Amino acid sequence: MKTQVDEIAVGIYRLSTFVPDIAPPAGFAFNQFLILADEPLLFHTGPRRMFPLVREAVSRVLPPERLRWISFGHVEADECGSMNEWLGLAPHSQVAHGDTACSVSLNDLADRPPRLLRNGESIELGGGKRVRYIDTPHTPHAWESGVMYEESTGTLLCGDLFTQLGNGPALIEGDIVGPAIAAEDLFRYSSLNPDMGRTIRSLAALAPRRLALMHGPSFAGDGGSALRALAEDYERRARRAEAMRQVAVA
Ligand SMILES: [Fe+2]
Ligand SMILES: [Fe+2]
Repeated sequence: MKTQVDEIAVGIYRLSTFVPDIAPPAGFAFNQFLILADEPLLFHTGPRRMFPLVREAVSRVLPPERLRWISFGHVEADECGSMNEWLGLAPHSQVAHGDTACSVSLNDLADRPPRLLRNGESIELGGGKRVRYIDTPHTPHAWESGVMYEESTGTLLCGDLFTQLGNGPALIEGDIVGPAIAAEDLFRYSSLNPDMGRTIRSLAALAPRRLALMHGPSFAGDGGSALRALAEDYERRARRAEAMRQVAVA
């Protein structure tokens, strides 16, 4: 396995490792995003067993010991499995996440105390980069879920939202909604909840110019429209689930 590194927006690097054995024959990719700045930030660490690959990929962009911030969508192995390996390697690094993730898991799991970010709070990374943390509870899954928005490039680090199969190019302008709907049909990975459509629509209001997918290509274009289309699909699923529930209780 080899990790591919591509710059998908100015100073934002996508580190992508393709695993053909997951969901064959299409396979499945795991992506981390490295923001180059005075205080560099890594969004997703990759699973613990992928740490040597991700560390080597980071070293192609900057000395890994320089990393300052470690963040991720939610607390699962592919999002943060090597969090403590990174804390050990980069002496000034700190995990940053929302209230729920810190209170429920990270205050205990992280080898150094995490930085708690309020919903909507930003971190000034320097070098013109600034990230805003946004709570997205249970969306697409996990109570503590959140995303980050890099303001200077209009890049939404959207975690598991828009998950798709395969190993496409690093950056595309084509459809990411159709493949996301197909992956949802296959994996059923989302915690379908009544607020899901509203949560995703609130991200559309940012009008992002880049969507950085954890499992899939990055997208360049009208991110707001893609998010609204995704929200619509989850609203359709929620309506169908509610109709089936009504039938079951009738
Ligand atoms: Fe996940
Ligand atoms: Fe993931």
